[in-house]
This record gives sequence, C-alpha cells and structure tokens, in this order.
Amino acid sequence: MPPDRLSITGATKTYPGIVALDDVTFRVAPGEVHGLLGENGAGKSTMLNILSGVRPGDTGEIAVDGTPLTVRTPLDARAAGIAMIHQELQLVPELTVAQNIFLGRPLTGLGGVLVRRQEQERRARAVLAGLDPTIDPSVKINTLKVAQQQIVEIARALIDEARVIAMDEPTSSLTPAEFENLATLIADLSARGVSVIYVSHKMDEVFRVCDRATILRDGKRVAVVTIADETEDSIVARMVGREVLSAAHVSHATADPVLTVQGLSRGTAVMDADLTLHAGEVLGISGLVGAGRTELLRLIAGIDRPTAGEVRVRGKAVRPNDPRAAIRAGIGLVPEERKKEGIVHARSVASNMALPTMGTYTRGGLLRHGRLHARSQEVMSDLRLRPLNVRQPIGTFSGGNQQKAIIGRWLAAATRIFLFDEPTRGIDVGAKSEIYDLIEKLASQGNAILVVSSEMPEIIRLSDRVLVMREGRIVADLGQDRISETDIAFHAIPRKEQATA
Ligand SMILES: Nc1ncnc2c1ncn2[C@@H]1O[C@H](COP(=O)(O)OP(=O)(O)OP(=O)(O)O)[C@@H](O)[C@H]1O
Ligand SMILES: [Mg+2]
Repeated sequence: MPPDRLSITGATKTYPGIVALDDVTFRVAPGEVHGLLGENGAGKSTMLNILSGVRPGDTGEIAVDGTPLTVRTPLDARAAGIAMIHQELQLVPELTVAQNIFLGRPLTGLGGVLVRRQEQERRARAVLAGLDPTIDPSVKINTLKVAQQQIVEIARALIDEARVIAMDEPTSSLTPAEFENLATLIADLSARGVSVIYVSHKMDEVFRVCDRATILRDGKRVAVVTIADETEDSIVARMVGREVLSAAHVSHATADPVLTVQGLSRGTAVMDADLTLHAGEVLGISGLVGAGRTELLRLIAGIDRPTAGEVRVRGKAVRPNDPRAAIRAGIGLVPEERKKEGIVHARSVASNMALPTMGTYTRGGLLRHGRLHARSQEVMSDLRLRPLNVRQPIGTFSGGNQQKAIIGRWLAAATRIFLFDEPTRGIDVGAKSEIYDLIEKLASQGNAILVVSSEMPEIIRLSDRVLVMREGRIVADLGQDRISETDIAFHAIPRKEQATA
C-alpha cells in the first residue's frame, strides 16, 4: 500500500477553556477527495489551520508521502506541498491575476534572474488554460467573480506544485453552475494525483465530490467513512450525535398588513416591485442568483437608493436610502455577506450585538452592560451559540457561530420586520433547524418576515407564500398550495421567447 499523501497523527489544539481538537488522526490518500465534516465549532478549520501552518497545533505529527515534516508557518506548508483555499480569499484586489498568482513567489528563471511580467502572465495563462481559459491573467483580480477568484487561488496552488489542496467551505458564495465547474475541476485535480480536502456543510456537495470523509464532533474524530456506503442521514446522525427532526411548516400568517412596497425600483436590478407583508407571515423570495433578491432587501432596508417607488410600514412612508430610518421603522436586515458586514473581531459577542441598536442599551451616554449581557445571553442561548459565552471576542468563534451571533444582533433589537438573506449559509445541519425554529417563533410572535434563499427545501420549509423574482422583476406570487420546486423553477428560469405579462 502506498503511504498516505498526508497524515496527521494525534493532533490536539487547545484554547483557553476549550479543546478545539482532541487527539485527532487524519489521513488522506494520494488523489483522494476527502471530506472534513462536523457541526459549527467541531474543529474543521482548526485542523486546516494546523495543516497549513496558519495556527500550529499543540501536538500532532504531520507527514507528506511518508516523510515527517515540521509545519510551523504557511511557508513550511507551501514547501511541503500543502495549499489552502481560504473561504475569505487571500488575494490583493489591486493586483492582476498573474501578479496575485506569483505574489510572494519571486519568479526566477535560469541563474536566478527575475522573470518579467510577460513571463509571469505566460506561465499563469498556461496553468489557467487547464482550469478556466476565459480568465485573462493581465486583468485586475477585482474584476473577476468570486468563483473565478477561487480558480486563481487554485492556479496558485498548482504553480506551487501542491500535492494537497484544502478547501474550507469553498462554495459558500457560488451559484449551482459554478459549483458544477468546481466539482469538475476537483475531479481533474484528483485524476492528476492531487489530494483534495473538502470542508462543507452541504451534504449534496459532499456526496457529489468526496470519496471518503472524516467526521468530527466536539473536537474528536467520531468516524472515517466511505461516502458510497453512507446516506446523507447517516452522515448527519454521526455529525450531530442525535436525530435532527425536520418539523413540518406551521403558518402564523394574519391578514394584517405591516409592510407595503410599491413600484420599488433601482435601475434594472429591481424593477417595479410590489409586495405586501403581513404580521406573522413568512414570505419567501426565490429566484436565481442575480435576479434582484438581495437588492430588493437592501432597498427595503434603506441601504441603497431607489430610483422609484416607496416603502411603507403600517401605512407610514419610510424615508428612502436611510438605514437608520428603516431601523426606527422596525426593519432589520440580516445580510448575506455577514462576515463582511461590520463585525468587530476583537469585541465580545454582546457588544457586536449591540452595534446597530446601541441606543437601547445606553442611558445618559453610558452602556448598560448588565442589560446588554442578559439580553444577548438569552438570544444566544436560543440560537445555541457554542461556546455560550457572550463576553468572548467574536473573532474566536467558529465561522458558523459567528453567523449566529450576527443573526442575534437583530433579534436583540426592536425589530418587527425581519429581512433574512440566505439565513443558513455556512450554518451546520443541526443549527439550521434551530434557525428554522427561530424564524417560526418570530412569526408566531406576530413579526413579519422576508426570507431570501437559494436553497429550495429551505424556502419550501419556511414560507407561507413565495414570490419568485426573475431578471429584476417579481414574476409570480405562489400561495402555500403552489409552493413546490417545479412551480418555483418554472417561474425562476428566464424564457427569452416568452413575453412576461
Ligand atoms: N482563536 C481562537 N480562540 C479561542 N477559541 C477558538 C479560536 N479559534 C477557534 N476556537 C474554538 O475552537 C473550536 C473549533 O473551531 P473551528 O473554527 O475549528 O470550527 P469549525 O468546525 O471550522 O466550525 P464552522 O463550521 O462553524 O466553521 C470552536 O469552539 C471555536 O470557538
Ligand atoms: Mg470553519
């Protein structure tokens, strides 16, 4: 039997008060696509950080192709042929594709001569040809879509002659079509003998790309499985260690209109949107990426300036393009790009929660810490924040738990109209059902809720009614009896030849 491509034996990593990884052994075969699975906080990113030298472990022996190695820095990892595609891509926006690929890798030719720009571009083009030939190495990286930027990171890994490429939730901002490209690319890498470590919460992706998977729970390895022998449910059960029940939809919708939107437009991104949202109602907004869903929420939340139309809360017009006015009217947006939307890493969960609603917790200019902590403790326990310590800096939580903290922000505010954009992106299967319960609880308390989601089962599970957007317009309003994947897809997919009434 050939040696493992990569192995780490007895990896342990502790943080004050928490064992993030507890004596975990992890092995990946040559050319294998190996999933690394577990709930939020299970230790997946910690493992990748150890392997890529970002944050070395306390103990654990790493070997590549049977050779033991010391990996204390990212440079050590690179020299050992281990590359990491981070979720937050590590590219410099102002540099070109080729410059990014060769960043920190002074391209030297024969005799150590620095190679010129054209040569960088030529080599970059050669590598990109096998990945995505439409990417021009001479353009600035920030002109590319996220999916293409990710491919540039993969190109960089190949230039480094990586033998292992680790991807931490690589598809969190990709469309289904872009995921298909990535899946093909991963299969190519594997055929060339490159091993891939794949971290994801999306079981369908894991089944599509992975050969085997290591499952972590609370920092411990609970199983190593061959994907072909498993079902999605059997894997989820191993991850969670309990059964995850998916409750049926319960409606709390009333006929009492809370939010009315009329003729709301912004250029061609959103055109002439009309909608009424009622107390207790969960209104889903479906559509393809780019159909205008996020933009519609941003207009309602006052973040962007509409070119026409108006938003009313209980009949009263809300000043457009004024986020504070929207918050005062009781509108709270839980945005899609949660990680980018102003979280302060060094501050506690509680103070991050208070950011948009500081007024509620101050008296005479002084922050009422007691009240803030009590309220955030309550909200975070509902969301099952792990660890449940609202005084801990938000930056020390796992990705999914940071998401919960940001969702919690709006729950602590005097919000009555919740706008959720992709509420469970990056959130594990267990916590997902907690967020569904929470949305339902908010509805049962008479709040009005708009949910944008690209996940059909999620929209179907949550919504009393579904609006479908296509190319900037609301093209269908489906009542509960007509909410199905087929109905939604029928309206969401552009039909060039068919006139839209
Ligand atoms: N810098 C840090 N300081 C303190 N605790 C940390 C730090 N980084 C991670 N942890 C803790 O280590 C544990 C494992 O976190 P990790 O980021 O590896 O989880 P994960 O499996 O990647 O989860 P997710 O799916 O949410 O991204 C968590 O309890 C987390 O709070
Ligand atoms: Mg993580």
